Amino acid sequence: MLTEKEKLEVLTNLGTELNQVKDLDILMEHILTEARRVVNADAGSIYIRDKSQLHFTYTQNATLQKRLPRGVKLIYNTFAIPADESSIAGYSAITGKTLNIPDVYKLDSAVPYSFSRQFDETSGYKTHSVLAIPLKTLREEVIGVLQVINSQDEQGGIIPFSREDERMMDHFASMATMALERAQMTRTLILRMIKMAELRDPKETGAHVNRVASYSVEIYERWAEENSIPAEEIRSKRDVLRMAAMLHDVGKIAISDQILKKPGRLTEEEYEIMKHHTFFGARLFIERKSDFDEAAAEVALNHHEWWNGKGYPGHVDLAATGPGLSFSVQQLEPRGKRADEIPLFGRIVAIADVYDALSTKRAYKEAWDEADILTTMEQGAGQQFDPNLIEVFFSSLDVFRSIQHRYPDNEEYTGGDEESIFPPILI
Ligand code: C2E
Ligand code: SIN
Ligand code: SIN
Ligand code: FE
Ligand code: FE
Repeated sequence: MLTEKEKLEVLTNLGTELNQVKDLDILMEHILTEARRVVNADAGSIYIRDKSQLHFTYTQNATLQKRLPRGVKLIYNTFAIPADESSIAGYSAITGKTLNIPDVYKLDSAVPYSFSRQFDETSGYKTHSVLAIPLKTLREEVIGVLQVINSQDEQGGIIPFSREDERMMDHFASMATMALERAQMTRTLILRMIKMAELRDPKETGAHVNRVASYSVEIYERWAEENSIPAEEIRSKRDVLRMAAMLHDVGKIAISDQILKKPGRLTEEEYEIMKHHTFFGARLFIERKSDFDEAAAEVALNHHEWWNGKGYPGHVDLAATGPGLSFSVQQLEPRGKRADEIPLFGRIVAIADVYDALSTKRAYKEAWDEADILTTMEQGAGQQFDPNLIEVFFSSLDVFRSIQHRYPDNEEYTGGDEESIFPPILI
């Protein structure tokens, strides 16, 4: 068990880390681990609220973990419970009150909530003491619940949580709240950016960004499964890729209307200017503060590279172009990037983008027949496109077609229905 001094150290260190760790999942797992350590709790979870539901998002359980082989992580099917007074976490979320329950099997009959035995029954775990703290923002909005289970004494016996534990847990709850709010703010900023790009080029970007993002995620998931990427990594990268792909052409906001909205074909000179949209976009994320910034820069910069080295912009130094939007791109080598030099997300979005450009009408061209599109995609394997990813593309054609129906052109994308694009909590 930790001394008072050690408990304070944990809190101080966590506060510093909050500003450094980029990945929300890692940070939340860390907050939960440290919270459990400070109050000596055997288990704990963080629920995230999404309107009327509480999602069981992060969870740890030392006793159940010990029953598993080393290195194997506890897997819970992520499930949700209604955010209402019928459960302990739900009650805490609805009322904004902390619940400190000595034994969930001996609840006062007057309380509106009850303990769901289902979890204990399916896991073979025995829950006794529970401390549930609402994750409350400064505006008194409850965005989730932090819950710790089974406080232990020096001998490992289960005891109730103390008043002191409640005080300590308040600190962890406010750190978790800050981390979640920060992620939410990033998400809002990204959505505004996508909307801004759409205002600039409403004909092409609306449904196009949604389709390109969905195609890209589909290709990534198939590729990742075939390459035995761990499920958790797929889950977090998928969400990051979705947003990054939505912004693949964000750099077009720096291209003049005269070129961007030209009804006919571009001249050689105009096309050279148009090519700058790749690094204009990438420069917006140059600080690479989060996994999202990194992926967005990677996609914006590399989505027009070709597998055979004949794409653009090639090896450029984003930082060397000076402040503002300068046209003096420094090409470090007089060729495009080749094969694996092109980051995975760039290779994926390249396929999604061209497939979508060909299958829809543009200011300068008509939509193509599917047969012609597929011939072009196939012939592009090993030339314009990563041949392995083209195989993945062909194995996902059904999904691509259904995505096309989900986001038809000429239907104004409102951007307001954020739930349809994003899962509740992302980054
Ligand atoms: P976009 O319209 O989103 O097209 C993305 C990519 O799809 C193009 O990248 C190109 O690789 C492919 N693509 C689009 N249409 C065709 C086509 O008819 N045939 C073939 N084989 N491929 C096609 P690219 O060429 O680097 O163009 C980047 C962006 O430049 C385009 O994005 C579009 O905004 C603009 N652009 C390119 N060519 C023209 C043009 O002739 N007229 C106008 N107004 N804009 C153009
Ligand atoms: C170009 O305009 O030179 C290439 C774009 C296209 O293939 O439509
Ligand atoms: C990624 O881009 O995150 C995957 C790694 C790669 O670029 O190959
Ligand atoms: Fe582009
Ligand atoms: Fe595009």
